[in-house]
Amino acid sequence: MTEKPQNSSSNLPAGCPLIPESIMTANRCEHTDLNLEIIEGKLPEDLKGHFFLVAPVGTVDSGGLPFPDGDSLLNGDGMIYRLDFDCPGEAKITTRLAKPPDYYADKATFLKSQYQKYRFRNHGIVRFSYALGFRNELNTAFLVMPSGKEDVLDRLLVTYDGGRPYELDTETLEVVTPVGWNQEWQAEINKPKFPFKPILSTAHPAFDADTGEMFTVNYGRSIINFMETLPAILALEGLPEEVYQLVATIIGFFDAGIIQDILRFSIQLVQNIIQQNIDILARLIGENINDFVYLIRWDGTGYLERWKLLLPDGSPVRIKQTIHQIGVTKDYVILMDTSFITGIEQVLNNPLPKNKKIEETLRELLESRNLPNSSVYLVSRWDLKAGQHPAYSDKEVTVIAKKLVIPLPAAHFLVDYENPDGKITLHVAHIASWDVAEWIRKYDLSAYPPYDPISERVYSMEPNEMDISRLGRYVIDGNRGEVIQSNVIYSSPYTWGTGLYTYRDRLSSGRQPKQLDNIYWISFGLWQETMTKFLYDLYKDAPYRAVALEDLLDLAKQGVPSSLFRLHTLDDSLKIADSYQFPRGYIGSSPQFIPRRGSEDNSQGYIICTVFTPQNNEFWIFDGGNLAHGPLTKLGHQALNFGFSLHTAWLPKIGRRQGSYNVPVKSDFQQLVNDSSPDIQKLFEYEIYPYFPSDNGHLG
Ligand SMILES: [Fe+2]
Repeated sequence: MTEKPQNSSSNLPAGCPLIPESIMTANRCEHTDLNLEIIEGKLPEDLKGHFFLVAPVGTVDSGGLPFPDGDSLLNGDGMIYRLDFDCPGEAKITTRLAKPPDYYADKATFLKSQYQKYRFRNHGIVRFSYALGFRNELNTAFLVMPSGKEDVLDRLLVTYDGGRPYELDTETLEVVTPVGWNQEWQAEINKPKFPFKPILSTAHPAFDADTGEMFTVNYGRSIINFMETLPAILALEGLPEEVYQLVATIIGFFDAGIIQDILRFSIQLVQNIIQQNIDILARLIGENINDFVYLIRWDGTGYLERWKLLLPDGSPVRIKQTIHQIGVTKDYVILMDTSFITGIEQVLNNPLPKNKKIEETLRELLESRNLPNSSVYLVSRWDLKAGQHPAYSDKEVTVIAKKLVIPLPAAHFLVDYENPDGKITLHVAHIASWDVAEWIRKYDLSAYPPYDPISERVYSMEPNEMDISRLGRYVIDGNRGEVIQSNVIYSSPYTWGTGLYTYRDRLSSGRQPKQLDNIYWISFGLWQETMTKFLYDLYKDAPYRAVALEDLLDLAKQGVPSSLFRLHTLDDSLKIADSYQFPRGYIGSSPQFIPRRGSEDNSQGYIICTVFTPQNNEFWIFDGGNLAHGPLTKLGHQALNFGFSLHTAWLPKIGRRQGSYNVPVKSDFQQLVNDSSPDIQKLFEYEIYPYFPSDNGHLG
């Protein structure tokens, strides 16, 4: 019998709030129509519809959370939770794991010894197999595609930054089809040819309910970005061969020796010579390895249509981090280079998942601060005439994107749909000095002298932010590509770690709102327990600091509670109009606005959110017009255990999927599988295709 490890949080001062255990644990149980208990209050009679939530819940080999190795808890299969408010006074929950084809590959390679050499492993926030490629974990967010018709169901996509979105059946919660064939998406790298390609997209595509068009992106950061980090790695003596082998695998060499020699040589040279080496490697790889960003438009039924984005000087748009979110207005599509990194660079983060010493050394060498500013790209929808259909055309079509830069990093932003006189209004949450792709490692130290090891109960957890978040409202002249008005605020205690948002996304008429004048944000709070020396040191000199470092440490010591607030945005001065602070030791997440029947006002409704208490997970329901009153209802169930939950959606009606759009799995993967080894072909034939029996489509 193993002894439970001693809780090293005992070296925190008495009374210091601890990160709730419930945010760091999760099970993978799939429930059907489980009756939630009403723990407190009662359910509002006019609360109707269906609330969707997604959360990463560990992997096939971990069986849930926490991860025994302390991997990031944001890495894991998406579990989809649906709360149904069908009967007065009752709430039921149904939960299903998102199971795209790569899920079955993950499962089979874990369970069956003949496939064990193809196993997937966690690398930072991605899950990767040297032979099979990248998991599409579908664990991040949703996109609602309203039908606009009373008798036609809305469509719902589940998304992930590193893969294609998948459409869900809103009744069974099964993933039905990806959006776009493999052939319609460009991989971040093309060699080696993984059956599960590394595809960078956005976790927040956008839908224009007025035109029925969906917009998303497909981009790649050139291998040069990746290569720039290599000389630093190779400065290390005595790295195991596997690291070189890994690098070679990623960039398409099967002889690790060549790359090892070239790169060992390159570290002795100055930067411009390194560039020449990169050029040599590029030729050896034999590929066009430029950065690329495609803006994709989809009508919901046909093939994807795309445009390659160029800057006005004709050079390609270069994304340095991620495109976590995009926005659509009446006349523009807006992209942002958002503040964390995913994709193949994550693999290097943790090259040998079992070797924490290598991981620690590489983190010291490679980790750099996220960019201090946000690059925003504007594309006029009027310029999106006939694009390229990669399903049947190789002829690229380009479109110009205007670039502008706003101070401070961001992960989430929203836009008003209306853009009168070409003026675009952008609402941004600036997460300052925070890296949401980071996680607390086993070798992290506390930021407080004498720098004791961090409490082991918070391994895998998101670390603290190292400055207060800001909320910005920007008016941009879309024609000139310039910011013409900007308001940026912060407010302690409310805006510490402001990440997730909700707002009324549809009026009673079913139409989308023209402008967003009330946005609900939820903040993580500030916690001494997850204040790591590594991130403190990394961000202590970051620009735009709002809260002095001593004050940051003092405040974290006292603890700043998680909070939910309503930002009123119509005024010239942004105002926190209503707010609620969660009790100390609790964290609120995943807010969702549920409109009250018959009302048009965008604060007339309910806010449901997840709450991680020191004991368990709950759902709390607030009156959207009176957060300060506190929760009206608390719901939960002892069998329900989800970890750090992310984004949400609300649908008035659910049912069996009505649409016919379908990308059949076998046809979709056939070419990629044919190019793979006989063993991998067998894996698909026996372990994946049988789960997707209906297969009668062809591309092009
Ligand atoms: Fe997000």
